[in-house]
Amino acid sequence: MARIPDAFIDDLLARSDIVEIVGARVPLKRQGKEYAARCPFHDERSASFTVSPTKQFYHCFGCGAHGTALSFLMQYERLEFLDAVEELARRVGMDIPRDTRQRNANPETRDLYAVMEAASSFFRRQLAGSDKARQYVEKRGIARDIVERYAIGYAPDGFSALRDALGNDTQHMQLLERGGLFSKNERGHVYDKFRDRLMFPIHDRRGRVIAFGGRVIDPEDSPKYLNSPETPLFHKGRELYGLWQAKQSNQKLERLLVVEGYMDVVALAQYGVSQAVATLGTATTPDHAELLFRNAPDVYFCFDGDRAGRSAALKALESVLPRMKDGRQAFFLFLPDGEDPDSLIRQEGVEGFDARLRDATPLSEFFYASLASDVNLSNLDGKARLAERCKPLLAQIPDGAFGDLMRQRLTDLTGVGARASTPPPPAQRMTRGSPAQKPSLIRSAITHLLNRPGLALDLQTPYRFAALRQPGIELLSELVLLVRERPDISTGALLEHFEGRDDLAALQKLATLVLPGEESALREEFLGAIAQLEKLVLQQRIEELQQQQREGALDDAGKQEMRELLQARMQR
Ligand code: UTP
Ligand code: MN
Repeated sequence: MARIPDAFIDDLLARSDIVEIVGARVPLKRQGKEYAARCPFHDERSASFTVSPTKQFYHCFGCGAHGTALSFLMQYERLEFLDAVEELARRVGMDIPRDTRQRNANPETRDLYAVMEAASSFFRRQLAGSDKARQYVEKRGIARDIVERYAIGYAPDGFSALRDALGNDTQHMQLLERGGLFSKNERGHVYDKFRDRLMFPIHDRRGRVIAFGGRVIDPEDSPKYLNSPETPLFHKGRELYGLWQAKQSNQKLERLLVVEGYMDVVALAQYGVSQAVATLGTATTPDHAELLFRNAPDVYFCFDGDRAGRSAALKALESVLPRMKDGRQAFFLFLPDGEDPDSLIRQEGVEGFDARLRDATPLSEFFYASLASDVNLSNLDGKARLAERCKPLLAQIPDGAFGDLMRQRLTDLTGVGARASTPPPPAQRMTRGSPAQKPSLIRSAITHLLNRPGLALDLQTPYRFAALRQPGIELLSELVLLVRERPDISTGALLEHFEGRDDLAALQKLATLVLPGEESALREEFLGAIAQLEKLVLQQRIEELQQQQREGALDDAGKQEMRELLQARMQR
């Protein structure tokens, strides 16, 4: 996939209006030349989020979120870069350059999406027209609006209902086959894969039908659920049933609930729990974990209380650990024997189910409870065994407060430090300091500046550290710029500048810290922190380029830049 040219993006942004894009999603209030709102990316009561029509960017003084119309769409609608580009391009009526279009703009794939959509409509019409299927829906207690929202349908009995309806020429026959809607016998004869089944279409993150799950209506038939095979559009380890609907029903997803079945998702939605998704008959994969956390900070995994449920929970735990960046939380919920979310919510209603969610076991607790379940912690051997078991798993948690706490907990339990016997190799240390993991550097720099504003004047321009994508960096940049404009500013005047802003309290606290040490040593510390931050910027850029390289989108200039950066990193 070739990269979209920067010139195209520039043009696209120039023709889009950020106020319109943001304003369609967040209520904006005019404030002088800019617009203000309560930040959609963090909880706040005041309006620290601003949108500037002249600069065509948004910026939150509270959480540091900022960017262009494109990044807003990515962050707010949780779109991938290319999807956000498509969305904007569609709005302003621009065509994405031909040779750089992504796979879903490829005509063949486009037809495949169309045929999946046609199949879905066909199944829905069949449901409306079949007494037997409608009776089953009724028996399962699925409300009409839920049938609509989840586009539930019915694949009729017989071997060629879909084929007869949509396979009117070779091209359509091929598309239906590529979409996974046919089976083939030994003689090469194709027939409908889904027969006499209740059909649950699976949507991708843009709401397009990419696959189906079908449940038998006749209890004698098997398997109970049949899923589409892997197709060019559908990779089951990467999709979550119900995510599209969850995103549609929730302006902002505070949490996601992972359940096992289609019926669980729809029943929960019917009773008002509209944040449930299901893996598609597979264990939770690391791809799932990432997708979940990209959509919500808190993820609850629901499992049966039996052994199978516990072992599925352990699998989920393993997939989740490497994704546990700070700010993310995972919980585990075990259901009583013989019940599933579908049956529970019907018995207990949303209050009962919410109570269970509130009681869910945090990942940290589940982790140690299950790993220590057969270990005697009162003796040394038991402690050593637990420590050995935990270490490889703990090592997968990204650096941050959560990882620290988890390791601390192991030390508390066993007296053994998680890292003690296996120091990370030096190569790993290099990549360690990747962005979003060292808030203390920024904090330290800000503290120094607040104490001695004049230090800002010792910094050389351009301020490369400002490019770091890390909370607090805007604040630091703002402070530096402020001091440059007003070289004689005092700490008090500096703080005044932040009057009425959410940051004020934190800044005041930092300003009151007394930094011990000689003047010159403090200056060294400050410059050292800035140098470290610039190194992180370097690392951030290297990672960006490496990402492009993995995507095959790194051009010659990029390669050259990467060589230079790698060299610069070595020399620092
Ligand atoms: P369950 O067997 O727990 O069914 O399968 P359920 O969700 O309670 O469904 P109902 O209430 O009997 O209708 C849970 C999930 O496991 C996958 C499906 O994704 C299903 O939703 N599964 C199950 C299959 O893929 N194939 C099967 O044969 C059974
Ligand atoms: Mn069930």
